[in-house]
Amino acid sequence: MVPAGQPVDDQLAALSPLLGPDDLVIDAGNANFHDTNRRARAGLPFRFMGIGVSGGEDGARHGPAIMAGGDPADWARIAPVLQAIAARAEDGTPCAAHLGPDGAGHFVKAVHNGIEYADMQMIAEVYGVMRDGMGLPAAAIGDAFARWNTGPLQSYLVEIAATVATATDPAGSGPLLDIIVDAAGQKGTGRWTAIEAQNLAAPIPVIEAAVMARNVSARRAERAAGEALFGLAPQPLHGTLDERDLEQALIAGKILCYAQGFAMMTAAAGEFGWSLDLPAIARVWRAGCIIRSAMLNDMATALAQDPTRNLILSEFFADHLRRSLPALRRTVAAGATHGLALPALGAGLAWFDMMRTARGTANMIQGQRDFFGLHGFERLDGRALPHGPWAAP
Ligand code: 6PG
Repeated sequence: MVPAGQPVDDQLAALSPLLGPDDLVIDAGNANFHDTNRRARAGLPFRFMGIGVSGGEDGARHGPAIMAGGDPADWARIAPVLQAIAARAEDGTPCAAHLGPDGAGHFVKAVHNGIEYADMQMIAEVYGVMRDGMGLPAAAIGDAFARWNTGPLQSYLVEIAATVATATDPAGSGPLLDIIVDAAGQKGTGRWTAIEAQNLAAPIPVIEAAVMARNVSARRAERAAGEALFGLAPQPLHGTLDERDLEQALIAGKILCYAQGFAMMTAAAGEFGWSLDLPAIARVWRAGCIIRSAMLNDMATALAQDPTRNLILSEFFADHLRRSLPALRRTVAAGATHGLALPALGAGLAWFDMMRTARGTANMIQGQRDFFGLHGFERLDGRALPHGPWAAP
């Protein structure tokens, strides 16, 4: 686990004269999967695997989730060791699996991290509604997260959000959260996911919004200038939303975000010729990793019924969405009218509304493309008149 990028190449070069063809080097850091593809195909004088590992310091001590890429024969050699140290789901299954060749494991880890960014962003957004829209103190917000953590939102990130919100500053200033600078760091894995989604033409707007929000968060001076110029934006909600609305909004946002992440993996599998086992990936994420949550069990079940179907179209999650969507809509609407920024939740809602609209609006785009570039369009009636009247006869 050395830092991604040049240090991995340097390390491989340093090991090359020392190792033989039966030796196996595992890159278990957060490598870019394109680099892992390149290294796996570079003819190294030893065996090589790229394995995504999630779990932070706790995972390192008590068992992480392990997403392996590489040759199945190499996986067979090391699986007993890695399955023994991996976290275990409630049913006792080790959260370690071989997911495909070359960079497939690091790709799945990148999607995991994109979802990690999105989960964290949506939690931060509802925190903002409670803080700025409802005027709740950090401890009360922490209590809400703790309550949600006993229901469908049960997850590591909601659990630690409760702990973070209720902590007090050891230096005695009051709630710790209130004195933490509001600029998020990032090492780049979420950005890779967003870039790769664009390459794959895979829509993951919730994750993209989360990456964007981290970038905006870092621009503190500009935001301060914006506030000085345009005034303090968030207005009190005065009872427009309650705690249950926010819980339901978060449930809906989470389903939409994971549906996008899994669909991105389907797109990658098609593009790269991998057979990514989506139910297995959902099962690996059930314990040990940062995005572990109760909902992943149900996602694994829904994906097993039909791995190619978008998660929102499964009966179980369609039902969940029918119940939680109205609250997401109310929350995003209240955010818009009260100046509370909800980019990830809003992106999820817009994507959902597109996904449930059979007759969209891209016919206008096609008409314009044809107008200025004679790019042509398909007609609903199937007739062979692929240009508008603006085309020269
Ligand atoms: C994990 C995490 C981990 C990641 C850090 C920081 O799954 O254990 O994803 O791999 O490096 O959480 O990521 P950022 O610095 O990009 O937030």
